[in-house]
Amino acid sequence: MRSTSPMSMSMSMSCQIVLHLLFFIASLFSTHASSLCSKDGSVVRNISEIPSGNYGRDGLSHITIAGAVAHGMKEVEVWLHTFAPGARTPIHRHSCEEVFVVLKGAGTLLLGSSSSNSPGTPLEFKIHANSTFTVPINDPHQVWNTNEHEDLQVFVIISRPPIKSFIYKDWSMPHVAAKLKYPIFWDEDCWDSPKDEL
Ligand SMILES: *[C@@H]1O[C@H](CO)[C@@H](O)[C@H](O)[C@H]1NC(C)=O
Ligand SMILES: *[C@@H]1O[C@H](CO)[C@@H](O)[C@H](O)[C@H]1NC(C)=O
Repeated sequence: MRSTSPMSMSMSMSCQIVLHLLFFIASLFSTHASSLCSKDGSVVRNISEIPSGNYGRDGLSHITIAGAVAHGMKEVEVWLHTFAPGARTPIHRHSCEEVFVVLKGAGTLLLGSSSSNSPGTPLEFKIHANSTFTVPINDPHQVWNTNEHEDLQVFVIISRPPIKSFIYKDWSMPHVAAKLKYPIFWDEDCWDSPKDEL
């Protein structure tokens, strides 16, 4: 066995301190680099290079193609959502228009009512590549990849960004009990101003 002299001991300790310092400095930069905010002022952007994330939602990949918080959009915002088999949005509503175009896969749109106290038993619609649908303002809805084999990919356009979403636990939850999620999951990374307590 190699004996450790006090000298080499203190050398290795100072090496460790330097290493810790380097990791600390690196972590300062990586916090910023690992942000999924896609602020980028380029005129033409490559969707494959825009950061994507699941934002804590299993089976979701979200990309903000053009957003209010990330790109200063005022009237519309555009997303690309990819749902793994079984993945779905929460049941939610928002007071903005929403247009979907299904690019790939198949699934189910569930649509509740905004005219009774709670969404109630939702209507179910099958969706597949090249389906398009709009969700009326404030109608509770859920998009679900009910296909076991393929990803479901949708192109989404919303009006009046940044979006304020109200999330329901289930279809029988009263509208007034739905919980405000603002900023929405993917806007949190880009949010500069203090969060609004609306
Ligand atoms: C877009 O980005 C992807 C991934 O980095 C790359 O493979 C592809 O070549 C890019 N397309 C163009 C036209 O630059
Ligand atoms: C969607 O419809 C357009 C217009 O008919 C057609 O050109 C395109 O190939 C269709 N795409 C798919 C995935 O079916």
